[in-house]
Amino acid sequence: MFNKKSIRDLNPESIKGKKVFVRVDYNVPMENGVIINDKRIQETLPTIKYLQDCGAKIILCSHLGRPQKKCKEFKKTSLGFYRCYIESLSLAPVARRLAHLLKEEVKFVDDTVGPKVENAIDTLKDGEVLLLENVRFYKEETECNEKFAKALVKNIDIYVNDAFATSHRKHASTYLAAKFVDIAVAGHLLEKEIKYLEKALKKPARPMVLIIGGAKVSGKLEVLENILNIADKILIGGGMAYTFLKALGYNVGKSLVEEELIDTAKKILKEAEEKNVKVYLPVDSLNASEFSNSAQTKLTTYKEIPDNMMGLDIGPATAELFKVALLDAGTILWNGPMGVFELDKFRQGTLKIAQTLAQIPQALKIVGGGDSVAALELLNMENAVDHISTGGGAFLEFLAGKELPGISVLNDK
Ligand code: 3PG
Repeated sequence: MFNKKSIRDLNPESIKGKKVFVRVDYNVPMENGVIINDKRIQETLPTIKYLQDCGAKIILCSHLGRPQKKCKEFKKTSLGFYRCYIESLSLAPVARRLAHLLKEEVKFVDDTVGPKVENAIDTLKDGEVLLLENVRFYKEETECNEKFAKALVKNIDIYVNDAFATSHRKHASTYLAAKFVDIAVAGHLLEKEIKYLEKALKKPARPMVLIIGGAKVSGKLEVLENILNIADKILIGGGMAYTFLKALGYNVGKSLVEEELIDTAKKILKEAEEKNVKVYLPVDSLNASEFSNSAQTKLTTYKEIPDNMMGLDIGPATAELFKVALLDAGTILWNGPMGVFELDKFRQGTLKIAQTLAQIPQALKIVGGGDSVAALELLNMENAVDHISTGGGAFLEFLAGKELPGISVLNDK
């Protein structure tokens, strides 16, 4: 079980007046400078409030987007690091949203390391909150540069990782910086995420069911391979199901198929059989000739997908089959929508699965991955599950059984 120290393991009195560096994941979706979903910010409030109650000086650090991909040139700073600035990836709007959620001032400094930041930290009073500028404006962050990691936590007393969603990245702020602070512990959000996932993966109440969907098999291979050793049933929907149907020899028309993975799909199905894991594939498919709400649709069995059409959602018979497979579950993990849920016409499959989950009170139900979470929010079905992970890539890596560097680096209990 979770064997890392968390902030709750520290004596609250010992935190008073201390400079606490908290790595959060405020990589939130934005449109024209407006945050369109602040779940990741909200989820860090328990840690921030706890530290405020303890009287800590709170320094929040996050990335936003991938500036390294957009930056035309990095300029050398006086500290010898390389920095770029992209206004649309500034965390300034996040500081304002956090202040609104906390109902108190959040200070913001337009840099991440150096004298300006040190000065801002030095003037913090107990309980005050400071958000640093996007850490990925520095090239050294993703390079996991040691000098930069040290600069991030210069004069810091306690390092807290509350960024589950970035814990799979071995970067300066998520990993190396923790090594230069004696006390490096998990925040409330990280602890909550790991506790749910460990419960589901290490000692699952049975039957344990994985529902997996989304467009491609390629991004989920390692998850499937690991979960084959844990699950009792695997339900495959979404675009990735058509590669499996093709592997079984069916004609899937123009549906998305990763030809190079057909043999792998066959291998997974064989391995599942050997391990006594029951795999459920769609038995019907809602097809169309284009990705459009105005497209003509045709519902067929999995054997009759027309040559000029592609499957864009599971059909009602599949939703019913999946429901029956789910009803007795003790644990359910869900990643990936069942169809192109962004379009009204192809949303029913995902909606029916969410409605089924709402009817299974005995099961521990966990959803993770950007698209599946977005689908639940769009359908207003967040209450159908026990835990919605903030992680996308990190959630998948955890399901794949990998060790996340941002977690392994923390102090053991
Ligand atoms: C995410 O959104 O999955 C995390 O913030 C990590 O972002 P990254 O994939 O750009 O490292």
